[in-house]
Amino acid sequence: MLTVTELQASYGAITALHGISLEVNEGELVALLGTNGAGKSTTLKSICGVLRPVQGSIEFAGESIMNKKPESILKLGISMVPEGREIFTSLTVAENLRLGAYTCYERSRYQQDLKEMFALFPILEERLSQPGGLLSGGEQQQLAIARALMSHPKLLMLDEPSLGLSPTMVDNIFELIGMLRDRGITILLVEQNAERALKVADRAYVLKTGHIEFSGTPAQLEKELDIASVYFGGSKDKSSEVTL
Ligand SMILES: Nc1ncnc2c1ncn2[C@@H]1O[C@H](COP(=O)(O)OP(=O)(O)O)[C@@H](O)[C@H]1O
Ligand SMILES: [Mg+2]
Repeated sequence: MLTVTELQASYGAITALHGISLEVNEGELVALLGTNGAGKSTTLKSICGVLRPVQGSIEFAGESIMNKKPESILKLGISMVPEGREIFTSLTVAENLRLGAYTCYERSRYQQDLKEMFALFPILEERLSQPGGLLSGGEQQQLAIARALMSHPKLLMLDEPSLGLSPTMVDNIFELIGMLRDRGITILLVEQNAERALKVADRAYVLKTGHIEFSGTPAQLEKELDIASVYFGGSKDKSSEVTL
């Protein structure tokens, strides 16, 4: 479904991605892991068109989306929940959701989509007329995900959805990600919470300073990278809070 080949991206003189290749097949949940500054967000930004890569190719559903505008890429079916959520804090929850639907706005369908979102995220219905800025971090993350779903994405990209959330909220978010996957939504999940991400992922990539260091199944990752010592500080079963 998504094929990224030899992708290079930079910020001025700083090269953030040194020719990375990755693939996401239809229906898969793929985790993209790596320490801070590894290039995870840069990868997602390049895919959804907010950052113009230097070189390489990005194909989605058999079509090149390299250098397409973010709106066009969204219309083709790729939706991203950015790091830090970036909801519109002065707009109401309802207005935020409406904006998420702007690529496929159709009154009857919109009402039905809203109902579905309320079934997934009951809190949003309760808060519908409140400004987004008044929601808690976890509620804002739910709103950001719901907003992204309003465009009926074929591929949903989530950039560190669990960051800064309480342990209970982290549980909720991962439960939700599993539910979305079970509904057939293809997901590319960027996480620092590697242990949790690997529990839900079909496959994973590990990025290190702009290079792909590993690709394979979660089981292979544990075996090949000696994950206990390398990533989890020597104790695998310490807790789900341990991050990369
Ligand atoms: N706007 C920017 N300007 C300059 N350098 C950036 C910018 N955003 C990211 N970088 C650099 O690019 C590299 C990759 O960053 P990023 O993709 O945000 O990493 P990650 O999401 O894995 O933490 C880092 O070295 C970071 O400092
Ligand atoms: Mg990032």
